[in-house]
Amino acid sequence: MFKQIPMKAVICTQYGTPEVLQIQEVSKPIPKDNQILVKIVAAAVNSGDVRVRSLDVKGFEKVIMRLVLGISKPRKPILGTVFSGVVETVGNNVSRFKAGDKVFGMTGFNFGTHAEYIAVNQNGTVMEMPENATYEEAAAIIFGGQTAIHFLEKAKIAEKLNPKILIIGATGSVGTAAIQIANYYKGDITAVCSSEGYKLVNELGVTNVILYDKDDFTKQTEKFDIIFDAVGTSSKKQCENLLNKNGIYTSVSSGYASENIQQLQLLKELFEKEEFKAVIDRTFQMDEIIKAHQYVDTGRKKGNVVLRISE
Ligand SMILES: NC(=O)c1ccc[n+]([C@@H]2O[C@H](COP(=O)([O-])OP(=O)(O)OC[C@H]3O[C@@H](n4cnc5c(N)ncnc54)[C@H](OP(=O)(O)O)[C@@H]3O)[C@@H](O)[C@H]2O)c1
Repeated sequence: MFKQIPMKAVICTQYGTPEVLQIQEVSKPIPKDNQILVKIVAAAVNSGDVRVRSLDVKGFEKVIMRLVLGISKPRKPILGTVFSGVVETVGNNVSRFKAGDKVFGMTGFNFGTHAEYIAVNQNGTVMEMPENATYEEAAAIIFGGQTAIHFLEKAKIAEKLNPKILIIGATGSVGTAAIQIANYYKGDITAVCSSEGYKLVNELGVTNVILYDKDDFTKQTEKFDIIFDAVGTSSKKQCENLLNKNGIYTSVSSGYASENIQQLQLLKELFEKEEFKAVIDRTFQMDEIIKAHQYVDTGRKKGNVVLRISE
């Protein structure tokens, strides 16, 4: 019998406001033969985490979410889908990692990263961190980066030469990553954001900016090869007139951005080449988890919110 060792974790005790989150002691995981045990240094609090916590969806989607996540509270009570940290121990069959490796990764619907430790499969979405990244930066680039890569690949970005791209909602976690992924594909970008977000998108290299609090982006005459709604506020119908022939509209509202190791690899490479940077709005300590969720709940964060788990 293994001795149970306690660790701290943020437990989502039920669906609701940020106050449903509590720091509790739970058993530190013991890695299985093909797993690595990671001491988490940083995670992020993302729009996905607050959506699960609040179950803020309407109608039939709410029923589906309860079936998938848990009827009255999350079946997996430790939220958080991204992490960076240090490998503490490895299972008997692990060959890809060793104790001491600095790693970052994503757990998707397995959640579990708002905790001091996590055991993940060595063949999961986990790899060595970008060499030049801090733990905060490594944790911050994953969620938006992975989502942006998924939707821009869905829009066949790699098949187009210097595509003209409209990014709606360019200042969130997904939007700031989408700008950088579009830059990597030599896209000619127009960004839609608020006046408050102008400086940030400009710093990310975008000069064509439509401020949604001043202008209606649907009224412009420009046409695009790709329209990516990174915030999910538009409809395809509303944007149809803005598409070139064979142009593609895609939105975060259409489907789930599944994660894979290739996305993580691309983010690592771009970060190491300084072609992708971590946009961090605020950093909270683990015991400030309620404040962190309250801030993400506003829907107004710029880039990412990091959760510092350990030193
Ligand atoms: N389908 C998927 O798998 C998937 C994956 C990830 C995320 N998502 C969804 O994608 C959305 C964005 O996620 P996120 O993590 O990037 O969110 P986020 O970081 O919370 O970003 C919200 C950003 O959008 C801006 N914004 C708000 N309303 C806007 C509007 N009408 N037009 C343009 N910009 C607006 C906000 O700035 P201002 O208030 O200053 O404008 C803020 O910077 C969320 O709804 C999330 O649930 C879906």
